[in-house]
Amino acid sequence: MSNLALQIRLARQEDAANVARVYIESWHDTYPGVLPNSLLRAMTLKGQTARWRAAICSQGREMVLVAESSRYGIVGMTSMGPARDNGLGFDGEIYTLYVDPSFYGRGAGRSLLKGAFSTLRKGGMSSCVIWAHARNHARFFYEAMGGRLIAERTAKLMGETVPEAAFGWRTLALAERSPVR
Ligand SMILES: CC(C)(COP(=O)(O)OP(=O)(O)OC[C@H]1O[C@@H](n2cnc3c(N)ncnc32)[C@H](O)[C@@H]1OP(=O)(O)O)[C@@H](O)C(=O)NCCC(=O)NCCS
Repeated sequence: MSNLALQIRLARQEDAANVARVYIESWHDTYPGVLPNSLLRAMTLKGQTARWRAAICSQGREMVLVAESSRYGIVGMTSMGPARDNGLGFDGEIYTLYVDPSFYGRGAGRSLLKGAFSTLRKGGMSSCVIWAHARNHARFFYEAMGGRLIAERTAKLMGETVPEAAFGWRTLALAERSPVR
């Protein structure tokens, strides 16, 4: 499938419902059997729209970007800002990165990561970390983008222990596309 023509831009207030939709659909595609079902069931469009509207309106510590196709509308989202754990030696962090499952593998993830790095750079940051569920296939995506496994931890989510892995970029540069296979 060919890559999509996409614009990566700051999210606007009217995007909140679409950001929430992409976020929920990607969670429901990625996390069954990985995260507790109670957590997945607890996510509602109304609740997530309110959460993302608040983040978009402040565009403060957490900045929100969307990937928009003129044909399909919003197909991905990402949010980023200062690293939450300073002890790792990375100043920037990508907090979320989700693509609509109907559009996986068409370049949206790479474009969003590039946009996120550019936003971190504008905010004065020079490196980046991403925490992912240790059993999430996104780790292969991060490695393809030049990220290196730098730390592991267990987090508590709704009473369950969740293994997490951190990927780091010492400079805000993505690996180039792999040669045509
Ligand atoms: C992970 C995710 C963001 C990747 O986005 P995407 O739009 O599918 O990725 P792209 O099409 O931009 O792919 C970029 C590169 O990564 C590689 N890649 C993507 N997913 C991969 C995977 N699961 N395994 C191996 N490589 C992968 C692609 O082959 C591509 O390589 P190339 O540019 O050299 O051709 C997306 O699949 C997603 O939202 N997944 C579910 C949610 C999630 O796990 N988010 C991360 C939370 S921490």
